Order: sequence, then structure tokens, then C-alpha cells
Amino acid sequence: MIETMDISIEKVSQSRIDSLDVQNIPFGKLYSDHMFIADYKNGRWESPRIVPFQNISMSPANMTLHYAITIFEGMKAYKNEQGEVLLFRPEMNAKRLNISAERMCIPDVPESLFMEALTQLIDLDRNWVPNAPNTSLYIRPFVFSTDEYIGIRPAESFRFMIITCPVGAYYSAPVKVKIETKFSRAFEGGTGYAKTGGNYASGLYPAKLAKAKGFDQLVWTDGRSHEFIEESGTMNVMFVINDTLITSQTSGTILKGITRDSVLTLARDWGMKVEERNVSVKEVVEAAKNGTLQEAFGVGTAATIAHIAQIGHQDEVFELLPIENRIFSNRVLKTLDEIKTGQVEDKFGWTLKV
Ligand SMILES: Cc1ncc(COP(=O)(O)O)c(C=O)c1O
Repeated sequence: MIETMDISIEKVSQSRIDSLDVQNIPFGKLYSDHMFIADYKNGRWESPRIVPFQNISMSPANMTLHYAITIFEGMKAYKNEQGEVLLFRPEMNAKRLNISAERMCIPDVPESLFMEALTQLIDLDRNWVPNAPNTSLYIRPFVFSTDEYIGIRPAESFRFMIITCPVGAYYSAPVKVKIETKFSRAFEGGTGYAKTGGNYASGLYPAKLAKAKGFDQLVWTDGRSHEFIEESGTMNVMFVINDTLITSQTSGTILKGITRDSVLTLARDWGMKVEERNVSVKEVVEAAKNGTLQEAFGVGTAATIAHIAQIGHQDEVFELLPIENRIFSNRVLKTLDEIKTGQVEDKFGWTLKV
């Protein structure tokens, strides 16, 4: 097990923080000063270090380039009014990384290493956590194979890294989604529940086709029958029908979202009726047609709560109710934001001060 003091730190000679324009932050393109690296060799994690953000070199035979032996996480840090930095449920990301790791034959990253690396990196780059409304520091922990090998077998050497980037809103407006009934993201027994690169790569082509038709995102359906809603490209999906919050139960094909869990916890705490179950495309389409679909929204770290303005299904597009009438999703968006930025009591103990 790696102890706190074992992480070596090499600081930048000159910070790039002046290049950050907080009013105008592009999502995912500007990286903060430092990054964390640890290497897995001979059955253990070693050489944990924080170094200036820089390119890494690798062999053209690196297994990850060929066989996608890679997993990642996504989380955010926020500033409160006192300028302190808050992480939101980071231990959930540590646990989920290891669920993905097992599925991809990647060794566990001990939770203590994950948390120590994370908190030391965020502490060092705390100036990069923006404090303007709707901004945060996006944190990307990831693990990939560093084996040089052409051939299929589990890898033996790996790298665990964390990079961070200040971000603004992921979506600038309510989204238009298409219920995908031809292509599939995941199947029972596959890797849908893991946060692994291949799941995202294989979704690009169907998403590109949908984009050409004017949609921002897909809502995936089950790979077998395409009759049940699963999740969106980077978000879980929720509906309010007849005052009940409905979302697909998680299974082997759906990522267990941390925002999803937080929203369900808040809804139950507020006394709202909540159903986690199979959600059929038919019932959503019928509710959209007969006006009982009160709200539809995506939930995820990057997008937070993304109101869905329109739902496309086959040749039809349904316009949903105006955003300002959406009582639950507006309330949950506001409350989550207030918890993450320390403006209200954190009664579930979700935030961690760095
Ligand atoms: C496929 C997928 N589903 C759901 C989510 C939402 O998960 P979380 O709320 O933990 O960010 C994400 C984002 O991480 C995702 O990539």
C-alpha cells in the first residue's frame, strides 16, 4: 500500500493559469498545470508522482492502442464561497474505477492511492478550480495498459493517471435526443456497466448519424429487443410521468451513475415516488403523445442535469413541456449545485473538502 509521503512532486516553473478565461472555458480542451502518474509493474503500483502536465511517449506496440485496455472516471471539484475546494462523492468514483478494472483485467487501484493522488493533485492545482457560476474543475482519472505486445492476452503493466481541466457547461441549451432502435451500445454479459473506452468508441457512429439529423445525443435501448430505454451517451436518463420519477434499473448494460444515485436519493428524501425498473420506449412515447410526460432529463457529472427538450423516435419528434414548468428537475439541479458548492447543508455527507 502506498503512503501519503510517497508521492513525489515536481512543480511547474511557471503556471499557465493566466491562459484561463473563466467566462469562456471550452469543455475538455484546457488542462491544468500538473498531472498524477503511477505505474504498475511486477504486481504492484509504484513511483507515484505529480509532474507538470506534459505528453507521454509510448511504443507503437502499446496494447491499449490496439486492444483498448483502458478505463476511466469523471468527477468534478467546486469552489465554495470561502474559496475552499470541494469534491463530490469521490469515493464512489474510486469504487467504480475498480468495478471497471475487474471487467477489463486491470489491477485494482487501492482506494487510498486514488484518494491520496486526487487530493494532493487538486490541492496543488487549486487555483485551477474556477468559481464562476456553472464552472468547475473536471477530473479525469484513468488507467491503461503499458505492455508492448501484439497479441491478445491480459496485460501485465499499467499506468494510472489523473489529469484535470477547468470546464463550463457541457450543454449550453436543453438537448434534443433520439431514441436509438437500430444500433446498440451494450448487451447482457458485455461491458456496458464498465467505464471503458470501447463503449464510447462504438457509440460514435450511431451518434454521428443522429447528429446529422439534428439530435444532440442518443438514448440507447436494450441490445436485444430495442424496447427498453437504457441510458444516454454520457448520462443516465430519467422521466417524470404522473408525478413519479422513473428511471431504468442498472444492470450489466448500464453505467451506475453517481449523479443518478444522488438524484434518486434526493427524490426519495423529498417524498417523491421513485421507480427503478424497466422503462419501455412505448410508455415514454405514449406519455409524450398524451401529455403525461412531465419531465425528461439526463443526469451525469459532465452535464449535471440536462433537460431534454425534444425526443425523436423513428420518424416522429416529440416536443416536451417548457423547461420552466419542470418542477422536479429544476429543483434537483439547483439543490445538487448548492450541495456541491457548499451553499446548503450537506446532510448526506457527499462533499469532501480539499
Ligand atoms: C455512459 C454513461 N452513463 C452515465 C454516466 C453518468 O455517470 P455519473 O453520474 O457518475 O457521471 C456517464 C458519465 O460518467 C456515462 O459515461
